[in-house]
Formats: sequence, structure tokens, C-alpha cells
Amino acid sequence: MSATIIDGKAFAADVRGRVAEQVGRLNDAHGITPGLAVVLVGEDPASQVYVRNKGKQTVETGMNSYEHKLPAETGEAELLALIERLNADPEVHGILVQLPLPDHMDSDLVINAIDPAKDVDGFHISNVGLLATGQKAMVPCTPLGCLMMLRAHHGNLSGLNAVVVGRSNIVGKPMAQLLLRDSCTVTIAHSRTRDLAEVCRGADILVAAVGRPEMIPGDWVKPGATVIDVGINRIERDGKRKLVGDVEFVGANRIAGAITPVPGGVGPMTIACLLANTLTACCRANG
Ligand code: GUN
Repeated sequence: MSATIIDGKAFAADVRGRVAEQVGRLNDAHGITPGLAVVLVGEDPASQVYVRNKGKQTVETGMNSYEHKLPAETGEAELLALIERLNADPEVHGILVQLPLPDHMDSDLVINAIDPAKDVDGFHISNVGLLATGQKAMVPCTPLGCLMMLRAHHGNLSGLNAVVVGRSNIVGKPMAQLLLRDSCTVTIAHSRTRDLAEVCRGADILVAAVGRPEMIPGDWVKPGATVIDVGINRIERDGKRKLVGDVEFVGANRIAGAITPVPGGVGPMTIACLLANTLTACCRANG
């Protein structure tokens, strides 16, 4: 028997539809249009695609999109000055600085220069702390999207064993915080974890966020578990370019109870949650 496929594309379309509806109402009732500023430094091809998609979907949901594309050799002071202007701009409710930044920039310094109320990525140290202490925070988009799909599939997550493979600030750590907030028993595993296979086999919920193509084989999955595959890895197989996740899909699909595909799983939810966060930031800014 194969697993239930968790259709992130359909989930994301639903989230975008609800955001668009609320943006329309906000505009009709109060004449307010949420605005998202996206800053891209350099010409990284993958980042360019992400930024283009973000801008397109922002406009499609009725919000204003402000794109700032800066050359790779831009100085840190210049980027910080732009962030200051965006912080002070009342038309801008959300600010996202696309990562990774060029090597000569200090990403932590740049992220922490963003007004936490406009930090729609949820990466500012204040939002990280608020999330960790169970307070009202801006929540990072990819883990938020994963949580929404898990809640929709399971209903209540309380008491489930969750294993998050990967300890990044963008996905692994905030994902663990969100699962803990929903009363899961959470393990964060990583490249130094001893007997990773056994740790994974104990997971009712397995979240893979390591960025290594098909690193988790099917026989690491507990029968009936829910597998959330955050990986988006470009590989070449049989002379063809392909996108694969961090989980070996065919094997895992035979054993899991539910699984997100790549593409069409977690990916589309990330931008949908960014739009939702921008709407939230706008509503909070306007009381
Ligand atoms: N680069 C890869 N993922 C992300 C993300 O979620 N936000 C930002 N700002 N940069 C990224």
C-alpha cells in the first residue's frame, strides 16, 4: 500500500485564496494595501527564481510588491541604509532579505537590522526568542507551512514523537519549536547524530531538512509515519535534470502513512506562508 500524498500545492492555493480574500476586505473597509519589500543582493540564479515567484504571488493576492535588486558588490552599510528606509516606510509592512547574502556581509547583523514587526521571515533574534518562549512571534515560513500540513493531516499532534533531521536556523530549529509548542516529543537530529537510522525509525512525524538528495532511505521510516520532506535538491539522473527531496520517495512512500512529494509538497507552502505573514504584519501595524 502506498502513503497518502500530502498535496502542498493544493494547501498553498487554499492559503493564498484566504489571504487574497482578507486583503480585499482590508482594502475595501480601510483603504489599506499590505506591502512586501524583497531585497536581493547579487545574481544567484536560484534566489532570482524565488524572488520572482514571491513578487508575482504577492501581486496576485492583491498586495504591493517592492523589489530591490542590488549588485553583489554592494557594501553592507548601503544594504543597512536601505533596510532603515524600509523600516521607516509606512507602505512596507513586510521586509525579506533573500539569503544567502554575499560572503562579505554579516547575515546576522543584516537580519537583526530589520524591524522585528516587519520581519516576515521570522529570523530576527526577537522573533526567535518570542517563538522559543511561546509568545506571539513572526514564524519562519517553511516550518509554518509544514506545521499547517501536519495539523490538517493529524488534527491534534499532542504526544507524537517528532524527529527533525537538520538544525538550521531557517527550518530545523524553528520547526522543532513549533512541534514542541504543539506538545510533540521532539528530537533534533543532525550530521553528528549517532545511529540516525534508529532515531528516524522512532518518529511518528519525520521532518527532513538537511539539503542532501535522498539521504533518508525508505527503511528509516516507521510504518504509518508522516514524512515531511523539506529538501529541494537539483540532481541529474539518466541524463535528465530532476528535483528530489531529502527522502528517497519511492521507498518511503511504501512504508509511510502520509508523505509530501518533491516538487509539490513543502515548497509551495513557503511563499503562501510568507504572504500570510505579510498580511499579519499589516494587520498588527494597523491595530
Ligand atoms: N533562502 C532560502 N530560504 C529562504 C527563506 O525562507 N527566506 C529568506 N530570506 N531567504 C531564504
